[in-house]
Amino acid sequence: SRTPVTVTVTGAAGQIGYALLFRIGAGDMLGPDVPVRLRLLEIPQALKAAEGTAMELDDGAFPLLAGVDITHDARVAFDGTNIALLVGARPRGPGMERGDLLEANGGIFGPQGAAIEAAAADDVRVLVVGNPANTNALIAQRHAPSVPAGRFTAMTRLDHNRALSRVAGHLGVPVADVSRVAIWGNHSATQYPDLTHALVAGEPAAARLDRSWIEDDFIPGVAKRGAAIIEARGASSAASAASAVIDHVRDWTLGTAPGDWTSAALPSDGSYGVPEGLVCSFPVTAEGGEWRIVPGLDIDDFSRARIDASVAELIEERDAVAALGLI
Ligand code: NAI
Repeated sequence: SRTPVTVTVTGAAGQIGYALLFRIGAGDMLGPDVPVRLRLLEIPQALKAAEGTAMELDDGAFPLLAGVDITHDARVAFDGTNIALLVGARPRGPGMERGDLLEANGGIFGPQGAAIEAAAADDVRVLVVGNPANTNALIAQRHAPSVPAGRFTAMTRLDHNRALSRVAGHLGVPVADVSRVAIWGNHSATQYPDLTHALVAGEPAAARLDRSWIEDDFIPGVAKRGAAIIEARGASSAASAASAVIDHVRDWTLGTAPGDWTSAALPSDGSYGVPEGLVCSFPVTAEGGEWRIVPGLDIDDFSRARIDASVAELIEERDAVAALGLI
């Protein structure tokens, strides 16, 4: 039998953790023949709740689940880890300024990056979900200088999936018929969901979509979907976020579908004028366990302005955490 893959989940007692861990246990993330050992990292006050979740994981009797360990020590949590899912983060509290939020999260993601540097397996792959995800990923990456920078990613797959679903719903086609949508920039309200290159059943989607629908409904609808979920559910997106984590890691490790791409935030290589090193969402493919930014796409003036606006926000966040000494 195969050696289990070690998967660390931070914020494991939270609501995304609760949805995510059972999908991982069921084998949805790495495939039906890959055993998994879970490491759950939580803050001390939430360890008891994490133990409750671990009891339920036991009760799932998942054949692929080789073990579950729980700790509040990042060095223990990331020891030998192959896949690190950084979900736990400090939410914005009442009266908290953006600088306070970045600083509080720097206090989490800096030490977690350092623990990954010190303890993780050589092939470690990191996905940051906790917000502000792009900048938290940048902070973690800068604390792990010996890990190839491209192993640090932040999640825009939920935005990507929302975009696929919104186009499919609007046109009344199955979601599987929609391909080549892209999310550019920051996982925030400035993100740019791009349909310029999208296909529906292999044909350009643009021919079937009004410009006004794209600009007034689709783009703000995707960017503000998180707020709409909170309004409806009384709680933020959790199962859909967990599902997007599964999709991101599965595509990263097993590869994207031929002819299609997905979206992920990763350190820029300078593509499309995005400053090198900035953790920015791009259209990407994956093969052999490596992401590759889709090259050579035409960027029209509208797209350029939207991408630049979101990248400007990422630069501001980067400069703010640099000024705080967090990177
Ligand atoms: P939650 O509040 O239910 O759970 C967060 C958990 O993280 C809590 O159990 C908390 O104790 C834990 N935690 C806090 N600091 C920690 C630390 N230093 N080490 C380990 N654990 C720690 O939140 P939820 O709904 O599970 O969301 C988690 C994060 O994911 C939030 O930051 C949220 O904004 C973000 N998110 C990102 C999405 C994306 O698309 N990138 C989508 C949805 C949510």
